[in-house]
Amino acid sequence: MKIHLLFLGLLLMGFSTCKLVKTEQKAVQLIRKPYLQSAIADSITILWRTNIGTTCQVGFRVEGTAKWSFVKGTTRTTNTRVVENEVTLHELTAKAKYEYQIFTKNTRLLRDQALWFTAPIGKQDTAFTFYAVGDIGEPVEDGGTPDLLGEALRLHIDSFKFGLLLGDIIYPDGKSELYDSNLFQYFGQVFPYVPVFPVLGNHDWHEPDENYVKEWKLPGNEHYYSFDYGNAHFVGLDTKMGDTLYEEEAQLKWLKEDLSNVGDEKQWKIVFLHHNGKSCTYKKDYAATVSLYPIFEEYGVDLVLNGHAHTYERLHPMNGKGELARTNENGQDPTQYPAVGLTSITVGSGGKLRGIGSDPTPFKPNPDHCRYPGLVAAYAHNWAFLMLNIEGSTLTAKAIATEDGKVLDTFQIHQEQ
Ligand SMILES: [Fe+2]
Repeated sequence: MKIHLLFLGLLLMGFSTCKLVKTEQKAVQLIRKPYLQSAIADSITILWRTNIGTTCQVGFRVEGTAKWSFVKGTTRTTNTRVVENEVTLHELTAKAKYEYQIFTKNTRLLRDQALWFTAPIGKQDTAFTFYAVGDIGEPVEDGGTPDLLGEALRLHIDSFKFGLLLGDIIYPDGKSELYDSNLFQYFGQVFPYVPVFPVLGNHDWHEPDENYVKEWKLPGNEHYYSFDYGNAHFVGLDTKMGDTLYEEEAQLKWLKEDLSNVGDEKQWKIVFLHHNGKSCTYKKDYAATVSLYPIFEEYGVDLVLNGHAHTYERLHPMNGKGELARTNENGQDPTQYPAVGLTSITVGSGGKLRGIGSDPTPFKPNPDHCRYPGLVAAYAHNWAFLMLNIEGSTLTAKAIATEDGKVLDTFQIHQEQ
């Protein structure tokens, strides 16, 4: 009996040693390409995912210089049972273009793809370009077009300093398991170079703290947050299902304080959230957003970007009551605006167009049938993203068709000097 037990013991030991050796020899594999987060002030966070690994680091240098610097990060096992690698770089030189390399367990990954990012611009800088688009992560097999959007954005990665994702990022229910198949696989030539700031949409709003919050590294509580970029202040909000805000009382208090703290320090105030307020698309007006108009007026918010309706629509500037801020008569140019009132734009045209695929109800915009005559300044029913450029006191935006790069709408807002 003793001999049998000894034999069994040796056998088990042998198995476990074998298993240990096997685990140690397992090669590190990249599961998710790097993506850039929280590019604010002089910092940036770089994340990527691997099959194994307990250590990670990033090598980086200003493009064209010789010496690499290395910063170690942290790893953790995700809710999808892979390893998240996270490294934050600090004290970056404003506007400098950096090359970078990623390492897990001392293995350099993605050796065949040149990686770079541009450090956030300085406080005194007043010129930059970014993009905004929502309603993206519909699988291609269900008729979605995240592939077209990824390709269209790739053409502009040298220009974009960051992107705003306007919610409904992962259909149908924002689960972590779907982030790679519905989103990241299509943006492997965009996200490693251009940081993104997302907000939650209703489709992402299923246990967001167990999914959305685990996928992104955002400022604040990640549901709502703000950041400064050059001469602009950006605020991302959580409109939950559209009827009331997430943690409404707390979020409103935070929003008022945040906008009040900015005061006149920044020339531009831009809010991004998922649900439209007033609009003439096929969606209703969402109370969560409409209720914010008086706050936007009080604190001088210039622009609100939203998704939700799977189309593109730009409204003429409104006041805090949701009325037109100026009459659109007397031959005023509908593409040039003084910075009076709030310009609201729906850019839910990222990857799931109304009338196609899993959303087959036909839709043809017709502002003449809208309950708000004269509100719509421009519309286009096509896959599109918005490219925005700030040059000091002028903001120029273009809605660009993802299929062929055609400009579907363009306008400018001018601040008084
Ligand atoms: Fe939505």
